Amino acid sequence: MSRPSPMSAADSVAAAATAETAGDDRPRMQLGVDVGGTSIKGAIVDLRSGQLAGQTHNVQTPQGATPEQVAALVWQIAAAEGWIDGIGIALPGVISGSRLCHAPNLSGVWERDGALDCLLVSADAAAVLINDADAAGLAELIYGGPQPDADGLTVVLTFGTGIGSALLHNGHLIPNSELGEITSGSGRFEDVASGRAISEHDLTPVQWAERAQPYFDLLETLLNPGRWVLGGGLTENFQQYASRLDLSKPVSVAHLGVHAGIVGAAAAVGRLDSASNQSGRQ
Ligand code: BGC
Repeated sequence: MSRPSPMSAADSVAAAATAETAGDDRPRMQLGVDVGGTSIKGAIVDLRSGQLAGQTHNVQTPQGATPEQVAALVWQIAAAEGWIDGIGIALPGVISGSRLCHAPNLSGVWERDGALDCLLVSADAAAVLINDADAAGLAELIYGGPQPDADGLTVVLTFGTGIGSALLHNGHLIPNSELGEITSGSGRFEDVASGRAISEHDLTPVQWAERAQPYFDLLETLLNPGRWVLGGGLTENFQQYASRLDLSKPVSVAHLGVHAGIVGAAAAVGRLDSASNQSGRQ
């Protein structure tokens, strides 16, 4: 097979968002891999239903993981599935050309020019890279039921090792938002109210809500969303956490739960003849 042809996240997102209606001949099964600060999970996804079509592979992310280490683990999952047709890879940072920025849960070397090349070119499969929260948002957009963003702007927040965000509007994903970066007097909300903060500080849902409420208040003032979708680790105990928040707009759990990143990554694999990976902010 020839050298992989990376495509831009924005292009792949647009392609994937229209995939269900385009009637084209792209593969109906796709491999999606979600690289997190704690674990790397991958599975074959049936793009017609958005459901996992096989077992989930789950490996621990090495402490301070380098791109080469992550690439090796991703290709290990691909090899276990015998997969060569293209891989969607969700990453916990902003994809900016050949670098990954704002990825505090990986090592600093991801920010150097060319850091992403090993993920794009070292295997016999073409890869599409997308931010992990954008992948979850894309999954919500495609598989989240009728008109997931019918109420105006939908803000998807994933609470895991960090806080990821995706903005959905009028049938489109607006990529590369980094709403976990917003700070308060106590520091970045991502450090204060993420899934990691919950486990590190053993926060009860009430204690978490005390930390998270100012975050939602601020986002409400800044963005005026019509709906919230919460994903990541919180999905398993969604009611316990969400019911402690005081929100003026509806809040729902991510439709695909903890698999949203895998499904969205798989869905982001569009036409492999697209030629560039130059998306995201610099
Ligand atoms: C990163 C985001 C990512 C989020 C969730 C944050 O630390 O900056 O890009 O989406 O973690 O993994």
